[in-house]
Amino acid sequence: MLAEFCLVKKMAINFYMKLLLAFYCFSWLFSLTIAQSDDPNLPFKAVNLGGWLVAEGWMKPSLFQNIPNSDLLDGTQVQFKSTMLNKYISTENGGGTILVANRASASGWETFRLWRVNESSFNLRVFNKQFVGLDNQGQGSNVVAVSKAPKALETFQIVRKDDDPNRVCIKAPNGFFLQAKSESLVTADYGGSLDWGDQNPSVFRMEIVRTLKGEFQVTNGYGPNKAPQIMRDHWNSYIVEDDFIFMSQNGLNAVRIPVGWWIKYDQTPPKPFVGGSLQALDNAFTWAQKHNMKVIVDLHAVPGSQNGNEHSGTRDGYLEWGDSNIDETVSVIDFVAERYSRYSSLAAIEFMNEPDASGVTIDNLSKYYKAAYDAVRKHTSSAYVILSNRLGDARSNEFLSLANGLDRSVIDVHYYNLFSEEFEKMNVQENIDYIYNKRSAQLQEVTSTNGVLSFVGEWTAEWLVKEQTTIEDYQKFAKAQLDVYGKATFGWAYWSYKNVNNHWSLKWMIENNYIRL
Ligand SMILES: *[C@@H]1O[C@H](CO)[C@@H](O)[C@H](O)[C@H]1NC(C)=O
Ligand SMILES: *[C@@H]1O[C@H](CO)[C@@H](O)[C@H](O)[C@H]1NC(C)=O
Repeated sequence: MLAEFCLVKKMAINFYMKLLLAFYCFSWLFSLTIAQSDDPNLPFKAVNLGGWLVAEGWMKPSLFQNIPNSDLLDGTQVQFKSTMLNKYISTENGGGTILVANRASASGWETFRLWRVNESSFNLRVFNKQFVGLDNQGQGSNVVAVSKAPKALETFQIVRKDDDPNRVCIKAPNGFFLQAKSESLVTADYGGSLDWGDQNPSVFRMEIVRTLKGEFQVTNGYGPNKAPQIMRDHWNSYIVEDDFIFMSQNGLNAVRIPVGWWIKYDQTPPKPFVGGSLQALDNAFTWAQKHNMKVIVDLHAVPGSQNGNEHSGTRDGYLEWGDSNIDETVSVIDFVAERYSRYSSLAAIEFMNEPDASGVTIDNLSKYYKAAYDAVRKHTSSAYVILSNRLGDARSNEFLSLANGLDRSVIDVHYYNLFSEEFEKMNVQENIDYIYNKRSAQLQEVTSTNGVLSFVGEWTAEWLVKEQTTIEDYQKFAKAQLDVYGKATFGWAYWSYKNVNNHWSLKWMIENNYIRL
């Protein structure tokens, strides 16, 4: 209201009055800024407890290492090249009809995403999202990609050659092997011997082009008998109370904890997820309370997946979160807010990590953000709410006006000098300059004077520098980021606390004097 007053009046008065008024408006903004940050905990110096309640294989490979056929987890993208024809199997039109074997090179239509039934049986999902299967209730030998939901007729066994595991035969549910007799058709009627010879039409070279290692993959990979114990052991050992002691003694005052939507179901989540992560989150709140830390709960994985990345709980990498998932996703936020609003260590709830602009629209996301906000405010007026900006082709201020209408709201941005070609050629100094110039300007764009706070919810001191680097280079890079991200009004959170890749582990970086807070 005051801002409007300033505007209307401005037009009617002379230059000197304008100056005075400008000063008045400025000081009003200034006092607002003071008022909004009178929270003594802000800005937070936080760390992400990544890889804990939402598994990520690259952060802790050992969690995945005992899975049988561990290179064929859910979402693994494979291509099959006939050894006889020297051509790839392709889904005509990307799906909806037959398979052929006539492509000299492979891309989308020649790529199949695995849904793992067990260690040797799989459904194969094609480009247009149908599943490969037998038609005519399996009466004939025709292979098509038409089913939207895989059942027995869409389940194939991948038989690997013992001494050459990427040489495979594919057994169809009718008991016969797939064969590419000619380039124009793939059928399920090979009943000959399994001689593994190049001229055998049922022999294929399987090329693995992408793998996923997230919570879905690890739980379904171990299966319902082994996964519960393995996940419980991981949750109980990866983060313990001593870690909260270490964090609080080293200048951190908050943790951002990624959680998955299944946490709401506690002991009985939908398969393949297993129960128990809620108990681990309870422990985190208890330890945080005891050691004067705050907790930011971050819904990192939502039903349907908001970005297709392994940390979104996806099965096969397709981004499918949308309007139809909003109610269930809000119910997870409602559950978290209700359960943890009684803890004074609850700092904030983040509604959705890294929605990707390629599939999550502003409309759907805005609708969700508003509903999630209402759900939180039913239970607490003091917790902050965090709205994540979208990845990809999205304006950095696209949610500022929405956030403006919400009380105690924060915009989350993630800054990595990674994942993009522009960083591949940068040397040490260029990376550091990028932080002081570009990142600083970007952060200003989302640091509003209207009460919405800014949060660099993920960053790290790893980069793509190819030249020989020293510890001092890393120290300078980390310091540049601390300098710049320290101006975020809500604070920052390093990715991550623990990680087998040392520079991604804040614990390691602190213990080895790369970073001092
Ligand atoms: C895997 O699943 C298939 C299809 O349901 C079944 O026939 C097979 O026996 C299972 N194999 C193992 C090793 O459990
Ligand atoms: C919202 O999400 C649905 C999927 O649930 C999608 O089909 C639709 O295009 C999206 N619409 C808008 C306007 O964002």
